[in-house]
Amino acid sequence: MWILTIFCLCLHFSATCNAGITSKYVRKPHASVDMPPEHFPSPATFNAPEQVHITQGDHEGRGMIISWVTPLHRNPNVVTYWEAEGEHRRRHKVHAATTSYRYYNYTSGFIHHATLRMLKYDTRYIYELGKHNEARKFSFTTPPKAGPDVPYTFGVMGDLGQTYDSNQTFQHYVSNPKGQAVLYVGDLSYADHYPFHDNVKWDIWGRFVEKSTAYQPWIWTAGNHEIDYAPEIEENTPFKPYMHRYHVPYKASKSTSPLWYSIKRASAYIIVLSSYSAYGTYTPQYNWLEQEFPKVNRSETPWLIVLLHSPMYNSNNYHYMEGESMRVMFEQWFVENKVDLVFSGHVHSYERSERISNVQYNITNGLSAPVKDPCAPVYITIGDGGNIEGIADNFADPQPSYSAFREASFGHAILEIKNRSHAFYTWHRNQDNEPTIADSTWFHNRYWYPHDEHSSSSGLVH
Ligand SMILES: [Fe+2]
Repeated sequence: MWILTIFCLCLHFSATCNAGITSKYVRKPHASVDMPPEHFPSPATFNAPEQVHITQGDHEGRGMIISWVTPLHRNPNVVTYWEAEGEHRRRHKVHAATTSYRYYNYTSGFIHHATLRMLKYDTRYIYELGKHNEARKFSFTTPPKAGPDVPYTFGVMGDLGQTYDSNQTFQHYVSNPKGQAVLYVGDLSYADHYPFHDNVKWDIWGRFVEKSTAYQPWIWTAGNHEIDYAPEIEENTPFKPYMHRYHVPYKASKSTSPLWYSIKRASAYIIVLSSYSAYGTYTPQYNWLEQEFPKVNRSETPWLIVLLHSPMYNSNNYHYMEGESMRVMFEQWFVENKVDLVFSGHVHSYERSERISNVQYNITNGLSAPVKDPCAPVYITIGDGGNIEGIADNFADPQPSYSAFREASFGHAILEIKNRSHAFYTWHRNQDNEPTIADSTWFHNRYWYPHDEHSSSSGLVH
């Protein structure tokens, strides 16, 4: 066993010496097929709350939005919650705001969103939806108060869908005891893959992921499969199903749209952007982001993380350069403000970049190749959740110098923030057991410890 471990370590280090790695791992090709709906039935009791999901409900981490659907009646529309341990187990009640919507020939159930506020930090709460035999009970743990050396672990997933591959990705993540919250980089149910954007697929997806989303917050980003813009069936309101179903605390960060917002969580400051909303100069998203960066206090939240759907650096021929116009608008701000990490989805494979920037380029100087830049973020494409559209296995050849590691497999990542200077990052491919790491690196914080990380990166070669 020790010999094997040493051999693997040698592989790590030999891999480190190379510039960019295209993994030699070859995933056996097979069709991506959706799981049958009967795998995810509604709860057996009449009108019981279902599709339960939670997300952070304020900017600081003391709020939680609890969302659920009751299929037939408006009630129950109340959350009862209490501290799981300690002397103060008094029960509190919060009424939900309830909505529903029609989409072509589909009518949603009653969709409830209740915001729990002024929760204690770092505390486990039990919450209950419904009463008597329809009641369902769940729990969550609030994050520690924001602080520079507060450890916290995020899961990272994107483009999940609801295939057997999606299930593998999801079950692997759920089996990892480290994840405390999920950074989700967009494309949820893929309902729009079906005729008339069959919104029943949204309901099934809500039930599929409930065993995680009901217990830990998923930080939502909108992708192209959330747009659901279909004028051919007179569905002219972009993001209609997504915005009814997934509420986020956008007003707390002075945003005017749920499609872009920010939160603080433990030692991380997370900015969520929308690749499918206007971001040109003077647009609401541009103006908001411009005012957002000066608010980030790296002494309180050292780790500055951006989530967006369409990657700015992608060496896959699928969706190649779709994120380019947003890169032109925002990359300079990312570099000037020393963003640590940018997570994207959209491309159905995995890729991690070097710390590079292309901000020198302008239309007259012609300097249009990315260069090493210690102030630049690492860009990670993690649209490898396993949805029905299949794998993106057509990488540009040769591998561009900005690409540190890439592999056409499905999987998820874990980001373990240790303190203000170090975070350990791992990527887990579905074909391996969860403890096996297919790509890993230590990230050094750009504000507190902006040293080169190259010696700690280790794309494993199989
Ligand atoms: Fe996408």
